[in-house]
Amino acid sequence: MNFTPISPVVGAQAHHVLLTDTNDQVIAAIAHALLEHGLLLFRRQSLSDEQLVAFGRRLGELDFSPLAFVDGQKARERPEVLIVSNVKEDGLPIGVLGDAEVVWHSDNSYRETPLSYSLLYAVELPEAGGDTCFANMYLAYETLAPVLKARLDALEIKHDLTYNSAGVLRRGFAPVTDPVNAPGPWHPIVRTHPETGYNTLYLGRRPNAYVRGLSLAESEALIDMLWAHATSERFTWTHVWQLGDVLIWDNRCLMHHRTPFDPSARRIMHRLQFVGERPFNDPVAAQRGPHPRAQAPQTRRTDTHQDAETARGMRA
Ligand SMILES: [Fe+2]
Repeated sequence: MNFTPISPVVGAQAHHVLLTDTNDQVIAAIAHALLEHGLLLFRRQSLSDEQLVAFGRRLGELDFSPLAFVDGQKARERPEVLIVSNVKEDGLPIGVLGDAEVVWHSDNSYRETPLSYSLLYAVELPEAGGDTCFANMYLAYETLAPVLKARLDALEIKHDLTYNSAGVLRRGFAPVTDPVNAPGPWHPIVRTHPETGYNTLYLGRRPNAYVRGLSLAESEALIDMLWAHATSERFTWTHVWQLGDVLIWDNRCLMHHRTPFDPSARRIMHRLQFVGERPFNDPVAAQRGPHPRAQAPQTRRTDTHQDAETARGMRA
């Protein structure tokens, strides 16, 4: 197995690995490569839900995303596998997020302990659209002006949990009329990655976000500026799906976004989500310098040995 970067800004493609046939050494190499690249693509996989869950359990502790259900959705056959789909059966949606645009976000930032990794497996795809874009938040943080970094170090954002990333009101919540009073946890804007030790810009999602201690107008201006910066094209990469693709990404250092697709087309993705940690800001991290993927674009070829060495170095 080896890994090659798939874009100048984020991610790598894994070669010569079947996720139905892994061992401890392969799992360790995947874990290390995820820390180095933030996102891994595995092409041409063929996985039953049982095999998907078995692989997920080897990689980390699986989460059940209870708030991801929507009204009227059919019950999940396996609670660990979240279906992301616009397909309806017997008049009921088989999954979540429909066919509309899904706004930029980091998965489950509206929880006290958001997800660490998410995994999507492409089961059925539309002919066009439904692409997933990723933005590298190590890079977004690193390219902020030093004076702004210092200011952000002391600030927290409230992450509204009222709506999902497709803009749908969650079950049991009232519409938000004032972001200052919206329900949701506070997280540091500058988040230290708990495993690599590097800082990232942690914005969660834009709707109803609010910076503690600022007037709403000041908060809106600061958040708008940060979002314009974080989602600029130079920090992003778009994945155009192929059947059998598996993507695993790190929500602690990436945001993602989905383009809309034809409502009459079918798109079925099977998702796993992994238990994460409460976000924190380590004051030492600001002195650490940039993460390797927050430097100049990489073109080098890496192998598992180099990945493991790099990840070990990042942990040191
Ligand atoms: Fe998501």
